[in-house]
Amino acid sequence: MARMSVPPEVDDVDLEEVNLFDPNLYATGDPHAIWRALRLRDPVRWQQLDDGRGFWSITRYDHACRVLRDHDLFTSEGGNLLYTLGSWDPAAGKMMTSMDPPGHTELREPLNHLLSHRELVRREDHMRRAVRRFLLPLLDDSPWDLAEAGMSLPMSFTGPLLGVPESDWAALARTSVAAMAPDDPEFGVGGTEEAIAKAHFELFEYFSALVHDRGTELSDDLIGCLMGTEIDGRGLTHDEVVYNCYSLLLGANVTAPHVVATTVLALIEQPAVQDEIAARPELVPSAVEEALRWSSPANHFMRHAVDDVTLGDVRIHAGDPVVAWVGSANRDEEVFADPYTFDVARKPNRHLAFGFGRHYCVGAPIARIALGLVVSELVGLVERFELAGPVERMRSNFVAGVKHMPVVAHLRADAARVLRAETLEPE
Ligand code: HEM
Repeated sequence: MARMSVPPEVDDVDLEEVNLFDPNLYATGDPHAIWRALRLRDPVRWQQLDDGRGFWSITRYDHACRVLRDHDLFTSEGGNLLYTLGSWDPAAGKMMTSMDPPGHTELREPLNHLLSHRELVRREDHMRRAVRRFLLPLLDDSPWDLAEAGMSLPMSFTGPLLGVPESDWAALARTSVAAMAPDDPEFGVGGTEEAIAKAHFELFEYFSALVHDRGTELSDDLIGCLMGTEIDGRGLTHDEVVYNCYSLLLGANVTAPHVVATTVLALIEQPAVQDEIAARPELVPSAVEEALRWSSPANHFMRHAVDDVTLGDVRIHAGDPVVAWVGSANRDEEVFADPYTFDVARKPNRHLAFGFGRHYCVGAPIARIALGLVVSELVGLVERFELAGPVERMRSNFVAGVKHMPVVAHLRADAARVLRAETLEPE
């Protein structure tokens, strides 16, 4: 797959033609070639859009860390994704992702606790079973679209944590993708604005009704946690609870599936790596970190400069939008040896797939546990995957996603028995 292999010489890229805003680039082009050229030739670059809007593109690792870490200089309150560029973010100051400390810290603290590794390991058996159930279609010899099916997988981990009924998981998973990849006609209906508005409306209505129905009843799930959280000496408003339910839902649904699909693709391209993990299961944790770096499912995060600031040798002005391209930082040759090699034993691996600083992904512990289970089950049950159709990528400048990837699997000797057991035994 050209997109993940070594990009062409940096001189082949015409920087005047570069358009990182264009969702088509991520569906059919190769952002890695462009990111590499920018890192080496113009690491802090202004992109002007035809409609008058514009933003700084940050492509180097050290600059990305600075932008994501320094919340005094680079605020999240103006919106953290490019789709809000140039418009007021209605979630500003209400949703964790669009807040700065100290409010952000107060809101996040109780969630940190519920989502800590310590709290989550006791769910591991349940999560392993969810992974095996997800893999059941592999028993069938016909091609299985692993990427499409994978979009529902996070709900089986986060659904119970959030406290949303299983009957709603499939619809929530699909609407989440429409909200974060509205440019892709397969998920968003109508134009980008219309698709976002529809998806947001549906998700906000959904959580609003759910929170309303709970009344004053406090539960030990994430929604209950938000309903009991205080910031600045007062409880969260109904809207604040709803915004943060939305954020937790999307945080999980639009990222993790693409790590799974991209990793299986890497294993198809390099079967020896699959054998290596199968032979040395102790590699699973580092394989997960490499899978995160390799896939970098959240392409970018945006901030706004609070004051004039110099980055590299470029002067950024107060109010300017600044976009840290996470996918680029994770291939920075100054930080990662052989960045275009999928190295499951890579150490150290200080990737930015979960971000950096105060907004570092609050769901990272559950994502790591879930991905560890996925990798160990995949290599434990499957000897080889084969592509059974074209790989299609998502049309989105935010989600670095695979939306279709039909595969067939050659299972290991005991796999059928292990998987069938999941259909027989009740939870
Ligand atoms: C592979 C899976 C995941 C990846 C790659 C990922 C990536 C990220 C990144 C890069 C950020 C930082 C955003 C910023 O700096 O503005 C973030 C924040 C966040 N993530 Fe994740 N995420 C993943 C899984 C999850 C899961 C499972 C959940 C929910 C349980 C979640 C919920 C959130 C939330 C609520 C935030 C905002 C945190 C804050 O603003 O303090 N994420 N995620």
